[in-house]
Amino acid sequence: MERGDLMPSPKMIEELNLQLNRELYSSYLYLSMSVYFSGKGLAGFANWMRVQAQEELTHAMKFFDYILKTGASVRLLPIEAPPSEWTNPLAVFQETLRHEQKVTSYINNLMDLAIGEKDYATVNFLQWFVSEQVEEEENARNILDRLSLAGEDRGLLFILDQELGKRVFVAQNQDNKEG
Ligand code: FEO
Repeated sequence: MERGDLMPSPKMIEELNLQLNRELYSSYLYLSMSVYFSGKGLAGFANWMRVQAQEELTHAMKFFDYILKTGASVRLLPIEAPPSEWTNPLAVFQETLRHEQKVTSYINNLMDLAIGEKDYATVNFLQWFVSEQVEEEENARNILDRLSLAGEDRGLLFILDQELGKRVFVAQNQDNKEG
């Protein structure tokens, strides 16, 4: 396909809008997990999830800004309600890792589409998310592994809770260059 301007194809715009919605859902999901941990008295885990929810909002805003920058229209779709109950902290992080793996596959599909359409501006935009997903999966896997090791040991769970309580949200430059 010949591309003479920077406006992504209608299909690409539709997929970018869907990903904007998925990032908002991710924020909702982690906020719900934060509520779950608060209810269990695990303030550190609750904090980690709250920061994660804030990060997902910045991901959503990157899509929001990019769509607008191309001259296309942002479509705000309904955000699905997330689950609110889990068996235990391990189950929460199993779902977190599964969720991030799903997001990675969505980003990869977007990249495939952008490459297929020779939409190099969108390829460049998506590159940040490709790297980010490596970190997202690694973070989830890391905590999941430590929860598995802790097993039923409340002392180890408490130590992990204290550590996760130290995570702070670092505001990112909305410009895609800085992530
Ligand atoms: Fe927006 Fe957790 O990836």
